[in-house]
Amino acid sequence: MEQRNLDKKIAGEEAVNFIKDGMTIGLGSGSTVNWMLQKLGELVKEGLQIKGIPSSRKTERLAKELGIPLTDFSKVAKIDLAIDGADEVDDYFNLLKGGGGSLVREKIIDTAADELIIIVDGSKIVPQLGAFPLPVEVLPFGWEITATTISKLGCVPKLRKIDKEVFVSDNGNYILDCQFNAMKQPQNLHEKLKQVVGVVETGLFINIASKVIVAKHKEIEILSK
Ligand code: A5P
Repeated sequence: MEQRNLDKKIAGEEAVNFIKDGMTIGLGSGSTVNWMLQKLGELVKEGLQIKGIPSSRKTERLAKELGIPLTDFSKVAKIDLAIDGADEVDDYFNLLKGGGGSLVREKIIDTAADELIIIVDGSKIVPQLGAFPLPVEVLPFGWEITATTISKLGCVPKLRKIDKEVFVSDNGNYILDCQFNAMKQPQNLHEKLKQVVGVVETGLFINIASKVIVAKHKEIEILSK
């Protein structure tokens, strides 16, 4: 297995050690989370009693295949622990997320949790967010004018396409990938973007994570706030 993927597996599997019987778990999205789900599925088969709330249709499908019991916000008022991936993590545990296009549901789940643990391979730890293009979910109606307004904040928004088809999120929206490069004040940028009409949510997760599990060259480091 390629080193980066192996590190994702190591970080994902480590995270299940924080899951306790009876918990409601927020299930993030992405390839690192998928490794966590595999391990969690094994523990459920061995008798661990938990319920998960998935942050994407992909995660929901995999959790069902693995026999992980699921619930939703009509049945539970809060989440005990959320475990999610990230595309970039800075020194203050600010996150850039949404590479997989699930940022809105992820943010709802991650902020509803008592604790958010982020699982990443070492390449995701950066001194400053922004080398990865920031995903911004926007309403399809008038996305062109929304993109023009966003561009005035200092980026060239690119409509996400997969195989030449416009990518549509689980919420029926579009994603603009916005290359800002070094973000000096991510919170400020997030607030400005949220003021743009047509913006649903940004991939900046500020001050939400409390722990980051990093695996680099098979070595695990657990960073806490
Ligand atoms: C999904 O929308 C993202 O926020 C993911 O959490 C992020 O892209 C991490 O994905 P990987 O674990 O696949 O690198």
